[in-house]
Amino acid sequence: MPLANGFLAPADFDGEYSYDLRVGFCPSCSMVQLTDRVDPGKLFHENYAYYSSTSQGMIRHFQGFAREVQSRCAELKDPIVIEIGCNDGILLRNFARDGIRHLGVEPSKNVAEAARRAGATILEAFFNEETAAQIVETLGPADCVCGANVICHIPDLRGLLRGVRLLLRERGVFIFEEPYLADILEKTAYDQIYDEHVFYFSITSLKRTLEAHSLEIVDVSRQEVHGGSMRFTVARTGALAVQPSVTEMLRQEKALGLEERTTYNRFAERVLASRFDLMSLLTGLKGQGRRMAGYGATSKSTTVTNFCGIGPRLLDYISDTTAGKQGKFTPGTHVPVVPYERFVQDPPDFALLFAWNHAPEIFAKEDRFRKGGGKFIVYVPSVQIV
Ligand code: SAH
Ligand code: TYD
Repeated sequence: MPLANGFLAPADFDGEYSYDLRVGFCPSCSMVQLTDRVDPGKLFHENYAYYSSTSQGMIRHFQGFAREVQSRCAELKDPIVIEIGCNDGILLRNFARDGIRHLGVEPSKNVAEAARRAGATILEAFFNEETAAQIVETLGPADCVCGANVICHIPDLRGLLRGVRLLLRERGVFIFEEPYLADILEKTAYDQIYDEHVFYFSITSLKRTLEAHSLEIVDVSRQEVHGGSMRFTVARTGALAVQPSVTEMLRQEKALGLEERTTYNRFAERVLASRFDLMSLLTGLKGQGRRMAGYGATSKSTTVTNFCGIGPRLLDYISDTTAGKQGKFTPGTHVPVVPYERFVQDPPDFALLFAWNHAPEIFAKEDRFRKGGGKFIVYVPSVQIV
């Protein structure tokens, strides 16, 4: 598999990096994770392709996240919020605007600069035990450490948790949200599996990992973003009351069979069936001379296009609103990524919706395309024309 965000120029096709994408399930601790990992320095660098603020829905979502953090800190005098992996400042800009002391820890230079432009204060680094110690020394302990779609990206989870524990004030909270394993399984959203997503968390597996660091989950809440995420609130063991949501979700996870190997074998079968259904549809439409293009050059699309074999023979282009992806080609399959304007001026008959997690926002925006006879193809939770 090539790098999920490794959009590239034709000059770089030869020698394109690739690695083995495999997921493992640990029957003793129930963690689901990649078995081979890519060096984080290859993924997060001065030219990281993903900008968080490309969706209005996500901007609103992170305003809500900021409100939750602020309400937890409401009683505190001059609280400090640290965000791990703040990207372009989609969350932190809310604290910056309200004059709340904060720091974003972000290793990818281009997005860190965008966050600074949005008013946030940034430490350009990978978060780990050393950076945590450095922050405690300069700023003091944090009232809230937060993160979104980043904790599952960090291969040294134990080092990360030691860092968080070091950083948290006695009754501080660590709030983070990540794609949720149960949603991935239920929706056969296998495209969440790629190099950056090292872990696929459940409450069951995280609870066990946290215990070894004297941390515990005190609250959980499901989120709709990224096709289904879980927001975890973690504190030092015994510091805060554990909410009933935690016990209830643990019970649901047991009922879903998240601790059983057969659950994952069945998922693998559904993934193969999904590929068969999608390829039957796409090759059938192509055979009828229909024009197809991709919508959204997501990280997830790299898994789908490479796993299924969807290349320029099937897709004329993939349109994307991110300037840094435009003019490049998709990792591995080398479909041209074009500006959104091309989609408007030269619409296909069928748009394969790689950004399916933003479907409501995109369908609302693409009323004209659909009224003109254009159709979307989705493949999560099942392959269909909508
Ligand atoms: N929180 C944002 C960004 C998610 S993308 C959102 O939810 O939209 C993941 C981000 O984490 C990237 O910007 C990447 O550069 C950053 N990242 C990766 N490893 C990191 C680490 N060890 N410490 C801090 N940030 C990291
Ligand atoms: P996202 O689904 O958040 O992705 P990932 O799989 O990378 O985590 O990425 C959305 C991508 O889709 C991003 O490159 C921007 C693009 N996009 C559009 O082109 N048009 C849109 O209307 C939206 C919402 C996103």
